[in-house]
Amino acid sequence: MNLLAATPIPRDLPLPLPVPEWLLVVCLVLFFLVHILFVNLMVGGSLLVVVLEWLGLKNKRWDALAHEVAQTITVNKSLAVVMGIGPLLCINLLYTMQWYAANALTGHAWLMIVPLVIVAFLLTYLHKYTWDTWTSGGKKTLHQLTGLGAALLFLFIPLIFLANVNLMLFPSEWEKVKGFFSSLSIGNVLPRYLHFMAASLAMTGLFLAGWFGRANADLSHLEGFTRPELRRLFYKVCAYVTLAQFVLGPLLLFTLPAAGITTELYVIIFSGAAVGLLTVWVLFGELKRDDARIGSRYWLIVMLFSIVVLGMGSGRHVYRQAALAPHQEEIKERTERYAAALAEFNKNLAAAPAPAELTAEQLFMNCAACHAPNVKLVGPPLTEIAQIYAGNPDGIVAWAKAPGKKRPELPQMPPFAHLGDASLRKIAELMLEKGSAAK
Ligand code: HEC
Repeated sequence: MNLLAATPIPRDLPLPLPVPEWLLVVCLVLFFLVHILFVNLMVGGSLLVVVLEWLGLKNKRWDALAHEVAQTITVNKSLAVVMGIGPLLCINLLYTMQWYAANALTGHAWLMIVPLVIVAFLLTYLHKYTWDTWTSGGKKTLHQLTGLGAALLFLFIPLIFLANVNLMLFPSEWEKVKGFFSSLSIGNVLPRYLHFMAASLAMTGLFLAGWFGRANADLSHLEGFTRPELRRLFYKVCAYVTLAQFVLGPLLLFTLPAAGITTELYVIIFSGAAVGLLTVWVLFGELKRDDARIGSRYWLIVMLFSIVVLGMGSGRHVYRQAALAPHQEEIKERTERYAAALAEFNKNLAAAPAPAELTAEQLFMNCAACHAPNVKLVGPPLTEIAQIYAGNPDGIVAWAKAPGKKRPELPQMPPFAHLGDASLRKIAELMLEKGSAAK
């Protein structure tokens, strides 16, 4: 079967965009990057806390550090959620059809995001506020498990998001998808996920190097650590994970389905990677500096990373645009065809005399804009209808009074109950006649 023929092509909503499209695109890319930054810090932070708290079993100073990092997660988590509203609204407007289709196809998992996020949040707060009481009260293991539970949820929730934004890119694959797990085999979810996880750790490392390294940071709870030591530690996390991105990034790029690959994409991604290389070089240079000077290039590194991230974010958009261009074009065509048929139909409706005096042929004008003997117009051809309703004109009458929604690739048919049973019956008989004659 021709896959493209099976691709659902809905018609567009008859609503104009509230602002120019390019503005929405700029907003989408920028808002998304702000959102994902805080998601990165939330996910990366919760993973680091699990590891640090575990190290703390041997040496208390790691436990104290884990506790301090945990304080940042709840704030970053709140920002991640609030900052998620902007990109969500933009993507709804720009890619309504593809976005909602992907949401619907991953149904249960998509809806599960809300309860899962709530549970993850409650666990992070529980973990943060019971740190001292549970640790001194002999419930350390329970405390660690709470942190682990939150971290595992934070690992899983982005996978659902990712499966969705990935699935929306490939309309020709939608037919194959039966829920969340089958959506994971579409496109290249896993490489995207690994790339995202690594970015989360790298960004968290960079953030914490700045957070604990800032001049007015209160390190009184962190006995056993010096400021330069903390800077070095988190710089290292950032540097080594970013180095790993030079494996994970190409893995992502070279497993991308061809649908959205353009020269423009390669130019953007490779320029971004070149700046990335420079960033890593500066980072490792920074690591070599002595205690007095480590951290002096922090803002340079932040700036370089911002350029890299902006490049990757733009590449992401360019890929999506190219991957969805044919689908959007088809939606536009379908919308135009539907609008024309509807206008024709309304014109006939207004011009029509009272139904009772009309012949079957005249009455059929109500349907002719969308149903032709042999070809599919807006609705199925009469040959197909005659096959389904052979010897059953009343079936057609019943359908025309209250049409259902049968063919996913076609729009909904408007109801014709106002014509009355007698007229519809005349039409139905004519339809069957024309349909079998046309065979
Ligand atoms: C504005 C376009 C339009 C007009 C006008 C229209 N139809 Fe349809 N019709 C459709 C579409 C679209 C479908 C397919 C709907 C689906 O399968 O979900 C359809 C499907 C049908 C079917 C097939 C139902 C089935 O069980 O598969 C019948 C029968 C039918 N129309 C009868 C009529 C009759 C009778 C009229 C006139 C009184 C009419 N249509 C006017 C668009 C139209």
